[in-house]
Amino acid sequence: MSIGKKVVITGVPGVGKTTVIDASMEALKAEGISYTSINFGTCMFEVACDQSIVNDRDEMRKLDQEVQKSLQKTAAQVIAKIQENIIIDTHCTVSTPGGYLPGLPSWVLQELKPDVIVLVETDEDQILKRRLSDTTRSRDMEGYAAIKDHQRYNRYMAASYSMFTGCTVKIIKNLDFLLENAVSEMVELLR
Ligand code: AP5
Repeated sequence: MSIGKKVVITGVPGVGKTTVIDASMEALKAEGISYTSINFGTCMFEVACDQSIVNDRDEMRKLDQEVQKSLQKTAAQVIAKIQENIIIDTHCTVSTPGGYLPGLPSWVLQELKPDVIVLVETDEDQILKRRLSDTTRSRDMEGYAAIKDHQRYNRYMAASYSMFTGCTVKIIKNLDFLLENAVSEMVELLR
């Protein structure tokens, strides 16, 4: 049986999910509240590396759809075993060459059973700028309109995940130079 709070944090690549999570966990630590943060993409990547099918994490979204689903399922099963407060850093949808792949299809939600799904969002021009300045990743080159479409589509998908599980959906804005506002909202949610 699962114990502990399960918080799924999503947002388009480069919106600042990991930055907000790390700062929030630091703030909570000072209050004696602890969460384990799990990056879903890292869990999938470890499985994919064991199978020698990718060289870097940005190749995963280009894999055959069925292979991505199988990696997804295995990662969800691994994460579901954790019996404590956890933050799952992942994606509402993944932009693949074949279209948007649901990041939390029914078989993943059945394993994770989230209490809340957070959508981290910001203005599309800020996301574009953040992606362009990150040289450590092989980002897909998308324009302002495509990022806007992706953020909107993620809201639709979060609503459907909420219908399916009964979890709440929280939208947190992570605006340029206002990281502390996003962190304060996240900390409030995680307390
Ligand atoms: P993952 O590693 O999660 O990819 P990602 O979304 O690209 O993650 P990033 O860590 O790059 O972005 P971020 O939003 O966390 O931004 P960051 O904090 O770094 O996933 C990898 C792959 O795994 C996916 O492509 C997919 O294939 C697969 N995957 C994952 N989950 C899946 C699922 N459920 N199903 C199927 N596949 C899945 O910040 C970015 C930059 O912005 C930084 O430079 C930061 O300093 C800056 N920044 C952040 N906040 C601010 C601010 N307020 N002001 C100014 N700058 C800011």
